[in-house]
Amino acid sequence: MAEKSFRRLREALGLIQHGSFFNIRTAVVFLASAALLCGIYLVASAARGTSEREGDIRVALLADAHLIGPQYVCCTESNDVDNESIMKTVERLKAAQQQIEALSPPPAAVVFLGDVIHNGYYSHNFEWYLANRNAYTVGGEIFGNFSVPVRYLWGNHDYHTSCGSAADSYDRTGLSHRLFRHFLGPAALPYSAVQMGRYKLIFLNAMLGPSWDPTHPRCDTKYASLGAEQLVWLERQLGGGGGGGGSGSGGQQPTFVFMHHPLPAALRNEAPELKHPDVLSVLLAHADNIMAVFSGHYHRHSFATIPAAKTAAQGAAAAAAHARDVYFSPMAK
Ligand SMILES: *[C@@H]1O[C@H](CO)[C@@H](O)[C@H](O)[C@H]1NC(C)=O
Ligand SMILES: *[C@@H]1O[C@H](CO)[C@@H](O)[C@H](O)[C@H]1NC(C)=O
Repeated sequence: MAEKSFRRLREALGLIQHGSFFNIRTAVVFLASAALLCGIYLVASAARGTSEREGDIRVALLADAHLIGPQYVCCTESNDVDNESIMKTVERLKAAQQQIEALSPPPAAVVFLGDVIHNGYYSHNFEWYLANRNAYTVGGEIFGNFSVPVRYLWGNHDYHTSCGSAADSYDRTGLSHRLFRHFLGPAALPYSAVQMGRYKLIFLNAMLGPSWDPTHPRCDTKYASLGAEQLVWLERQLGGGGGGGGSGSGGQQPTFVFMHHPLPAALRNEAPELKHPDVLSVLLAHADNIMAVFSGHYHRHSFATIPAAKTAAQGAAAAAAHARDVYFSPMAK
């Protein structure tokens, strides 16, 4: 059944093509209490009056800024739209920050859905990034201006893996994670979870598994993968018993999951030693707790529902949604 659900989601997302990148999309998501019961969430502009309940939260979503620094040479993207918009990413993120600051009431947090920095690697040596103004410096300056707390997850452009060549790949934990933390601050963790209001928010990292390991036979950076360690962590966050699966005692806490790649891009059976060997399996096993899954990556709006096929008492469905592709006039729409 999981396969069938997965196929349905893939079909729903099937029309989405890569391309037309680098548009900042923002949406203010009002995580409504109704979501707990029927597995939906409401995307509402801040202006729209929606009644809130104690413990509900407002979160602003940002995705795919693709910030560039002075080293970027124009324009080597795969199409004209990207060639043009890549040069505007810095000004667009600054403008998004101003719009978010102007929201009333303010969101409790900004969640950044990945691809913060566009191919920002110019040296394997961390000291180089301290000595030379670069895309991470630019990101640090812009995000330093946010008065609303920013929660990061990362995207494929925030890492650099060349499958088959460790030498041409940039060390994920030794360099990338060090850069994130140094330039974007202590909240810029590889992956994390936070309790906000009545909800748990889980920020996944889709570049830590075998598809992003240059020496692994399944290395293929088109695909998202979490790695066994993060899969076990996710299972625990969702109230399961870790590697052994099981229902655990984590209870039925309503949870929102964030991952850069939409679920159809996630590698299946990436950790065969685990009961739930990939991210989709883990999410489906705990679908009762999951309100929605939000992704960036495709720079498009789409929405899909995965029926929680495993149990009869399926409350919430695991859903994947993109913030609306609003070509940077989010609040005007
Ligand atoms: C993007 O710009 C580069 C540099 O001008 C150019 O070589 C390339 O063909 C452009 N791509 C497209 C699809 O136009
Ligand atoms: C930070 O905010 C100040 C005040 O609005 C503005 O002048 C400055 O340009 C901003 N810097 C960045 C990097 O966005």
